[in-house]
Amino acid sequence: MKLKTVLAASTAVMMAGPVLANPQAEVLHWWTSGGEARSVAVLQEQFAAEGGTWTDMPVAGGGGDAAMTALRARVLSGNAPTAVQLKGPAIQEWYEETGLADIGAVAEENGWADVLPAQIAEHMKCEGEWCAAPVNVHRVNWIWGNKQILDEHGIEMPTTWDEFNAAAAKLQEAGVTPLAHGGQAWQDATVFETVVLGIGGPEFFQQALVDLDPEALTSDTMKQVFDQMRTIRGYVDPNFSGRDWNLATAMVMNGEAAFQIMGDWAKGEFLAAGKEPGTDFVCAQTPGNGFLYNVDSFAFFNVEGDDKQQGQALLARLIMGEDFQKTFNLNKGSIPARTDVALDEFDSCAVASAEAMNAGAQDGSLLPSYAHGMALRGAPAGAITDVVTAHFNSDMSSDDAVQQLADAVANAM
Ligand code: BGC
Repeated sequence: MKLKTVLAASTAVMMAGPVLANPQAEVLHWWTSGGEARSVAVLQEQFAAEGGTWTDMPVAGGGGDAAMTALRARVLSGNAPTAVQLKGPAIQEWYEETGLADIGAVAEENGWADVLPAQIAEHMKCEGEWCAAPVNVHRVNWIWGNKQILDEHGIEMPTTWDEFNAAAAKLQEAGVTPLAHGGQAWQDATVFETVVLGIGGPEFFQQALVDLDPEALTSDTMKQVFDQMRTIRGYVDPNFSGRDWNLATAMVMNGEAAFQIMGDWAKGEFLAAGKEPGTDFVCAQTPGNGFLYNVDSFAFFNVEGDDKQQGQALLARLIMGEDFQKTFNLNKGSIPARTDVALDEFDSCAVASAEAMNAGAQDGSLLPSYAHGMALRGAPAGAITDVVTAHFNSDMSSDDAVQQLADAVANAM
């Protein structure tokens, strides 16, 4: 049994009323952009209001790659942080490697099983026990548009990749950068997975990026996906390399580019800047159907000391609190993980997201994001991203790309 620390005792103390211990938490996360910082501040404030002392450990870098490197260094030096932004199969990978604190007592006292969709709850469990707390559901397959630019050029949000290409060509012709993109591997992967979903459809996405079926990986459909990636490469500005995702969002906001393909944390940036959906910017699902989900969550490493363990239990309780889930997600651009939080204060993009998620759960098109660590373990996910980014940044042919993809995946298994 790997769940070494059982937080039941400290939770029981907390539930009983005022306590003498001082809940402590050192929290490792990668929420450093404007919208992200506003969101995590909600948790910091609630933690402090309940007597907790929060030590912030932000590690900048969209998608969390740098944060995960920092986490590994901390664990290897025998000094794991108390709480870590961790998601998808990485939760189970860490559990297998070091064990994680069991937050089952908090989950049971607060009825998590009754308010979380089964698919999300499953991600939060290690050998059947609760080992992570979800904060939200981000949708990855979004395209954002600058309303004024689109209106000026008579362009509608594209519903097929051909429409996207036609719109992009028209904008380029008129001297407008069609796509704001940040050339970092995880952002290339983000665009790639939306193209896989759009061109191949949900079933193909499942076969290729979840089941890693070699036939799907080398199929003509996958070649078309790489062809489309090559086309997209022609629509980004010359300075895209290395750009942070939020700077790409700012380009759309400031009228320096028409579109961005990015998960709805981008909406957190628009909102933090006071922009309104429908007026200043437009959201639409990327061409195609389906819902690529990306659930942020926190896991708790095994730590010594009542104060730290109480800090973990308090954080877990707050994270799943209705009030936190509402306020945090209003800022973050995502929707609550809890199904019982009313969406009346949420904007039209969030409402559309919730509707698409429910529809996807019914028709099988609710799929885990590979680019955001929900679908695969680290090794195969990293292998795919290496090929995607190598292709995007070279003149590699689609034939070579699919072969490299299949080989890289086979080697990573
Ligand atoms: C996380 C988001 C975050 C984004 C950019 C994603 O992987 O799930 O919470 O805002 O990366 O850093």
